[in-house]
Amino acid sequence: MTLSADEALATTRAVRRRLDLDRPVARGLVDDCLRLAVQAPTSEGNETWHFVVVEDAATRTEIGRIYRDIWMSYTGVAPEDDRPGEAPRERSSRYLATVIGRAPVHVLFCVEGRPEGAGVGDLAALYGSIIQAGWSFQIAARARGLGTVWTTYHLDREREVADLVGIPYERVTQVGLVPVAHVLGDRPLRPARRRPLDEVLHRDQW
Ligand SMILES: Cc1cc2nc3c(=O)[nH]c(=O)nc-3n(C[C@H](O)[C@H](O)[C@H](O)COP(=O)(O)O)c2cc1C
Repeated sequence: MTLSADEALATTRAVRRRLDLDRPVARGLVDDCLRLAVQAPTSEGNETWHFVVVEDAATRTEIGRIYRDIWMSYTGVAPEDDRPGEAPRERSSRYLATVIGRAPVHVLFCVEGRPEGAGVGDLAALYGSIIQAGWSFQIAARARGLGTVWTTYHLDREREVADLVGIPYERVTQVGLVPVAHVLGDRPLRPARRRPLDEVLHRDQW
């Protein structure tokens, strides 16, 4: 697949229902995406990022269980329960909660440091030093026919997931969990409907 930079930026969607749960993802593909991800900017050039690639099925299942439980605690419904009249995005989010543990690969995006007690500038630097790499990773994955979605629900039980995969929680923060899979079907991914730029653009003055 050859995508222009504009196409990749416009069509890197949150992929949930089209994650191919049965097709393995080659380790080399994920590593290639991570090699591009570490070209992203970081605060003051400090490379404080870490990436935990979870291939082990039992670990993914356990992470999936934690994600599902937290999703359920927010929504108050079991993700397996059909909900008539549900908006497509809600359905897609619910679907992911049931299957995330079966995505062939999970990538945990982490950064050295902790947010607790940090000031606004330090927080922006902390999160900004990993999130841009995360988005690069998602775009690189998209260019390789892989689907991803940035997720954060599991962070309510961040320490449990840290213990599961050996992340030193006291000095390293998890910022996102990205399931990775090949995209099911041939239907092209399209640009999303967003608020008109005029509603969010401010020139010179807010
Ligand atoms: C900070 C952040 C946290 C997110 N957390 C979750 C999450 O926990 N679960 C999930 O299914 N999607 C999560 N998403 C994905 C958004 O829901 C997704 O970007 C949104 O549905 C728009 O999708 P689209 O770009 O395909 O239009 C998150 C996105 C961001 C940027």
